Amino acid sequence: MLNNRNILLGITGGIAAYKAVDLAGKLTKMGAKIKTIMTQNACEFVSPLTLRSITHQPVITKMFDLNSEIEHISLADWADIIVIAPATANIIGKVASGIADDILSTTIMASTAPVFFVPAMNGHMYVNPIVKANINKLTELGYFFMEPEAGMLACGYEGKGRYPKNREILYFLLTFLEYKRDLTGKTILITAGASQEKIDPIRFISNRSSGKMGLALARAAHIRGAKVKFIHSNINDEVPEYLDSYQTNDAKEMYDTVMKESSKAETIIMVAAVADYAPAQYSKQKIKKSDDLILNFKKTKDILYDLGKKKKTGQMLIGFAAESEKIKQNALMKLKKKNLDFICANDLKVTGKDDTKILLLSSKQEIELSGSKFSVAHQILDSTININKK
Ligand SMILES: Cc1cc2nc3c(=O)[nH]c(=O)nc-3n(C[C@H](O)[C@H](O)[C@H](O)COP(=O)(O)O)c2cc1C
Repeated sequence: MLNNRNILLGITGGIAAYKAVDLAGKLTKMGAKIKTIMTQNACEFVSPLTLRSITHQPVITKMFDLNSEIEHISLADWADIIVIAPATANIIGKVASGIADDILSTTIMASTAPVFFVPAMNGHMYVNPIVKANINKLTELGYFFMEPEAGMLACGYEGKGRYPKNREILYFLLTFLEYKRDLTGKTILITAGASQEKIDPIRFISNRSSGKMGLALARAAHIRGAKVKFIHSNINDEVPEYLDSYQTNDAKEMYDTVMKESSKAETIIMVAAVADYAPAQYSKQKIKKSDDLILNFKKTKDILYDLGKKKKTGQMLIGFAAESEKIKQNALMKLKKKNLDFICANDLKVTGKDDTKILLLSSKQEIELSGSKFSVAHQILDSTININKK
């Protein structure tokens, strides 16, 4: 997928340097050519030999090295993209200040390729106003930054500063190299997951929606530059830090959150499987086992229908329809009834898997999409939001 792409990997002296080995391996497997520059401090954490063995390409650690087969500036021109992973507070500070005192900072300075930093550091370092100001300055100048994760850090502190998952870095790189940032400036609201309707303190009814498709759409939209409001309910995967996320549990919470946030979004994609019916009564105490139990259900508020009713001019509304029969016919009925611009009809038999097949329908169009959920997410964005740009 990354065939013929030249990626210059810069590794700096952070505890997460060992994770860059896995990143280099994954990128190499995807067909990219990886040349690595390691700072002297990075070499304290991992051996250049490891990177060389993984990438089968040169690893440069010194500016003044007569034995090096690479001239000190040539990598700057060779790279399609420069990825600094992990990026220390030090390298960020150096680049922000225009310092070029080693082979990595000099190469970054001399390159016109996009530069992508993956900061990883102690939580106090990450929120240090100097580090923040450096990141802001570089962002304004067009450098790219991945947000670190929050959680337990290697230094023993809890905070934001953890190296993100390599999977997330790959998503970014893949899309950055394959797609334009064509959704910059747009706000997109995406819902995902399954609502849970409580019966008593420990029981609920729900459905099998995994949240994978909604998450794939959120990631794809974010990578293409959109501001994503991600409203989710009981999804299996971790929600990436970079999404503006809202956790909900039942249909009512999902309804209230979507209604509150929807006016700020130009596009709304409702992927979540929200219950049509909820138990009419909630039992505060656990229901004891006795004879057969009969539950009464009441209808929940229809989010898509209400969104369709109050749709503003220029706002785009996209729904999903998971159907077990008459897929196209049922989806078209839903499209019309709920005043949608597009509907993605999918067959319940393939729900929850990593790959999917979708029939994208509008009043004028019918397109079959298939592939991994991430790839289908991009195809949906191409065929809906960006349809006029083609
Ligand atoms: C054990 C250890 C772990 C470190 N981890 C980090 C880190 O995760 N992030 C960071 O910014 N600095 C970290 N540092 C500090 C950097 O190594 C130090 O700032 C160094 O000057 C960075 O140099 P470089 O950017 O040229 O690689 C760590 C230092 C030590 C001794």
